[in-house]
Amino acid sequence: MATLTDPNPATRAGGIGARVTRVDGPAKVTGTADYPSDVTVKRPLYAYFHTSSIALGRIETIDEQEARALPGVVDILTWRNTAGMLDTVPPSKGGSTSIPVLQSADIHHDGEIVAVILAEDYETARDASHRLRVAYSARTPTATFGSTGLGPEVQKDGPRFKNSNVGNAAAALQSAAVKIEQHYATPTQHHNAIELFTTTAQWQGDELTIYEPSQFLVGSQNTIATALRIDPAKVRIISKYVGGAFGAKGMTTSRTGLIALAARKLGRPVKMVATRDQGFTIATYRAETRQLVRLGASRDGKFTALVHEGDEVSSRMDSYKVGGTETTARMYAIPNVASKVTVQHADRNTPGFMRAPAEVPYMFALESAIDELAIALQMDPVELRRINDAQVEPIEKRRYSSRSLVQCYDAAAKAFGWDHRRARPMSMRDGDWQIGWGCATACYPSMIAPSFARVSLSDTHAKVEVAGHEIGTGAYTIYAQTAAQMLGLPVDKVEVVMGDSRLPPAPVAGGSNNAASISNAIAMACMRIREQLASAAVNDPKSPLHRRDMASVQLVDGQLRAATGPGEPLAAAVARAGGGVEAMVGNQPRNLPPEALAGLRKGRLMMTGGSMAEDFVKYAFGAEFVEVRVHRLTREVRVSRMVGAFAAGTIINPITARSQLMGGMIWGISSALHEATEIDHRNARYTNDNLAEYLIPVNADVPKVDVLFVAETDREVNPLGIKGIGELGCVGTAAAVCNAIFNATGVRIRELPVRIEKLL
Ligand code: MOS
Repeated sequence: MATLTDPNPATRAGGIGARVTRVDGPAKVTGTADYPSDVTVKRPLYAYFHTSSIALGRIETIDEQEARALPGVVDILTWRNTAGMLDTVPPSKGGSTSIPVLQSADIHHDGEIVAVILAEDYETARDASHRLRVAYSARTPTATFGSTGLGPEVQKDGPRFKNSNVGNAAAALQSAAVKIEQHYATPTQHHNAIELFTTTAQWQGDELTIYEPSQFLVGSQNTIATALRIDPAKVRIISKYVGGAFGAKGMTTSRTGLIALAARKLGRPVKMVATRDQGFTIATYRAETRQLVRLGASRDGKFTALVHEGDEVSSRMDSYKVGGTETTARMYAIPNVASKVTVQHADRNTPGFMRAPAEVPYMFALESAIDELAIALQMDPVELRRINDAQVEPIEKRRYSSRSLVQCYDAAAKAFGWDHRRARPMSMRDGDWQIGWGCATACYPSMIAPSFARVSLSDTHAKVEVAGHEIGTGAYTIYAQTAAQMLGLPVDKVEVVMGDSRLPPAPVAGGSNNAASISNAIAMACMRIREQLASAAVNDPKSPLHRRDMASVQLVDGQLRAATGPGEPLAAAVARAGGGVEAMVGNQPRNLPPEALAGLRKGRLMMTGGSMAEDFVKYAFGAEFVEVRVHRLTREVRVSRMVGAFAAGTIINPITARSQLMGGMIWGISSALHEATEIDHRNARYTNDNLAEYLIPVNADVPKVDVLFVAETDREVNPLGIKGIGELGCVGTAAAVCNAIFNATGVRIRELPVRIEKLL
């Protein structure tokens, strides 16, 4: 596949690396982009969820009389008429939780679905929900750390998670010249995408169509089939656009099977849009963590030992854990590492992926600890990271496929003006505002998964078809660019069709893998097309390419041509092939078992990369620099400036990539200063489950954010050299903010988010 990385200069405008504005931009700004809940179906019923007001116990009675008497109410599903009709699909099989829905009288967490009201209109369904009388017998639930009754994890380390250990960390810490030992904590967070959780289900005979925002169409198709015990071939999921996902729309929640079941029972399409607060309990979230970091170094700043232990919270029935120590253990050249992650079970809904699930909380702790150690060593924190940079990770001693972290620090430090930093806290001031500077490392594993893609070429128009996902990242655009590059066409001659599970299967839009997985599959399909056209041309006496070496034939600038000599217009080459050429490929990444590609058709999630890859460890890197201003009297904190430099292999589109990384850094500000789901410990209930009280940054919170790219070529990650950028930008930001706050105030915040009262 060496030719994949060959420059194709004639098509640079619109090809890989070109600054192409979003191809779906006009549809989005004119309101013609059809998001799943915009779809109209004939004679729908509207569903409204009634959710539990207790977190632990049993439903004793359900009085439906008043609700059913309301004109327009058609049916009410409860456990009494639904038990046994729906299988629970656990996270290991593509579901989002092992907690069954409407299958018994048991209540496992606050806000669990206990009834589905079906009515002729939404308002009636909601009204009926308030007229439903559910009597519970409640027990005292366990909310989180610090509550009694937490069940510790029975050892459940799957193949995906290993505690990373090397050397003798305890002994090395004992003899370390300089060391720090600190506890860090990160809060519960909910994705809070603008688009709510929504499902519309429609049956035609025994065929089911679901309109639902999805990060994993093929996974969802199979999961819903499993839940309903039907043939996956009978299930079709449509999701052309997704209005924010961030991990919440990757695993299929139980609501989808429930809505499909209601539609089948009542013989009408059913539409459901959950409320904002319901989204906090009927889907996944980022669980809180508590972490311990012990970090030791010699006098000259060489790290000698790291202990990193994490505690996470999960539901009673699932051991979901993010386990970021796989990353932190390998991030620097540390000869002695001991790490451990434990899950504790509480009466909560099951957590799940949320943007950079592992790296966001765990790199916060590590990158804060490194700053604390730099202060103890009286050393510049950039210099400390530089002298401990690892081109070979310490645990299994594998090389990084490429690692440009130091180059990122150099670029970002220069742009930020780090040279002018004053290390002593409270030494920079502007009137009543204390100014502080801080930095931290961003990193994210470079993942790849199997993917199919179909490309067809007719005349001079290409069509790319793949069951991919536009979650706001620019997916339509970068896949068009990839095909444009490989086929020698302008980007506006390429149409990308996605968002339908009937298209060639693509992996989950998670783990920042899709650009690598899908673009490489598209590139392979384009190469097949080129081969077909080239083979016909070299065998045609009437072609100027007759008898040329087939391998030298390229598609460039609307022409089929060899390295030298005349070419022929693409239209002529396509006409020779009967007016159209098509290639359907399945890309099976190396390092994955051979059944991975076939497994994808069945909705299985297989990915490799990061610390999981066998040959190299594969990560994208960045360095983030932050300036904060803290008011001397009110302790108000403002991020006033931010610079991030990133190296992530091939950047398909610098415009959409910049948006991704900038968005990530803004999310990082949010993690540092705004976001937390508050939990009432008495009743294990989320108390700020709305956008008025769940704080996210607004424009006034977001300063000048500069994104720089550090050029990087990685020939190991995949043929196109793509490392992925979806999650990279938000890693390390919270540490950089807290490091800057320390520089401004001398106060170290180890528990996120930073709140005014913590700075008093
Ligand atoms: Mo991401 S949390 O892998 O959607």
